[in-house]
Amino acid sequence: MPVTVVILAAGQGKRMGSDLPKVLHPLAGRPLLAHVLDSARELEPAAVRIVHGHGAEEVREAFPDEDLGWRLQAEQHGTAHAVAQALPGIPDEHRVLVLFGDVPLIGAETLRRLCDTAEKAESADLVLLTATLPDPAGYGRILRAADGGVSGIVEHADATEEERRIRETNAGVMVASARDLRRWIAGLSNDNAQGEYYLPDVVAPAVAEGARVAAVEVDDPDEVLGINDKSQLAEAERGYQRARARELMEAGATLADPARVDVRGELTVEGDVFIDVGAVFEGEVSLARGVRIGPNCTIRASRLGPDTVVHPNTVMDGVTAGAACELGPFARLRPGTELAERVKVGNFVEVKNSRIGSGTKISHLSYVGDASVGRDVNIGAGTITCNYDGAAKHRTTIGDGAFIGSGVMLIAPVEVGAGATIGAGSTISKDAPPDKLTVARSRQAEVRGWQRPARKPR
Ligand code: UD1
Ligand code: CA
Repeated sequence: MPVTVVILAAGQGKRMGSDLPKVLHPLAGRPLLAHVLDSARELEPAAVRIVHGHGAEEVREAFPDEDLGWRLQAEQHGTAHAVAQALPGIPDEHRVLVLFGDVPLIGAETLRRLCDTAEKAESADLVLLTATLPDPAGYGRILRAADGGVSGIVEHADATEEERRIRETNAGVMVASARDLRRWIAGLSNDNAQGEYYLPDVVAPAVAEGARVAAVEVDDPDEVLGINDKSQLAEAERGYQRARARELMEAGATLADPARVDVRGELTVEGDVFIDVGAVFEGEVSLARGVRIGPNCTIRASRLGPDTVVHPNTVMDGVTAGAACELGPFARLRPGTELAERVKVGNFVEVKNSRIGSGTKISHLSYVGDASVGRDVNIGAGTITCNYDGAAKHRTTIGDGAFIGSGVMLIAPVEVGAGATIGAGSTISKDAPPDKLTVARSRQAEVRGWQRPARKPR
């Protein structure tokens, strides 16, 4: 049976205490709703419909994808009312899989299991996802009849003391045919603590008409964490990061502390990678065998070759590095940095949009931007490629084996030939020939007869 996914995302999220619509709050660097969408898409559903309302435009703009059907719920009268906005036009026999935009860690595997339960011949008309939680406060509780079958769901706000002791909760995810949902929802009332039409209330009419109701229990309770406030957001973030850390370790990485690594994107690692505490990875990052990441590094959209070592407090974005490079501590590598093998970029060095050849060393306090640097070049401390004249950027080219003394200003566009030596403190504004010593600084002079001014005695 084709599946249409309906994601509820109209709520304001008052308890988040924020102007940002709830489903746009970031988890691992991406909106909550993006995570739900990822899992939904893995099922290859016939269609995805999103019910939006609060901050409608902002939410829609965050997801320009063409395959999404947006349904407006101008006033939020509850989760059943929200689903009702999405149902028109969904063929009767389609299975509708309802997801909540604020339950971000739900996994595709779990959704598949739910759909399979609904699908199998003689199986269920209504399938609910449940979770047994140590602290079920806030969640709807699953009520079961004497025979063990689900008889209803009671919201926390409406539950009696006794019902609140039930630890089996409603995750909010359910599957039923569009035909059944339409009928069940039409009969609901909003006579409850919140004056809303509750989606979980469809269980009662389903049971009453003899429909088969099944409950599927989630394997990992992290998957059903609902985000209603900032503490739950933080909890979900940790849950997500725990799962990423597990994957990294399964792939052979050693983590100094699995609780102190943050992956906000796709991180791929090979065996014998070591990651120290406080590392943050963003976008697509790959670390080849034997790479070592020191403490407090932020690494974004980069690829590091085997045995490359990143020392503490290094920040990089858009970097490709070959094998056995040594980067940092306190290096900043910006987009367009391409390092060959065994390149050394030391402390307080910034590199941007530059290719650096193998074995080259830029060890201390330098800025290298818009440059092509050959192999086995040595760039002394405090060297700067003056690439910007206030209007345009210009390139610096340094040939293989060149030696740039400390404190050199290379005023681009400029070329330093292979094997050239540039004297320390030079300001190079014209090309320097290969294999020669070029010095461009004023000569040192001794000033005769000069006397240090002395204070007059009072
Ligand atoms: C809901 C369930 C509860 C379940 C819990 C799981 C209901 C009535 N309660 O409670 O049984 O244990 O989720 O996390 O369903 N929304 C709309 N339009 C509305 C109301 C809500 O789109 O009119 C959206 C919200 O944006 C949110 C989702 O539906 O993404 C859930 O709503 P929320 O108010 O957070 O429900 P809970 O009280 O968490
Ligand atoms: Ca919620």
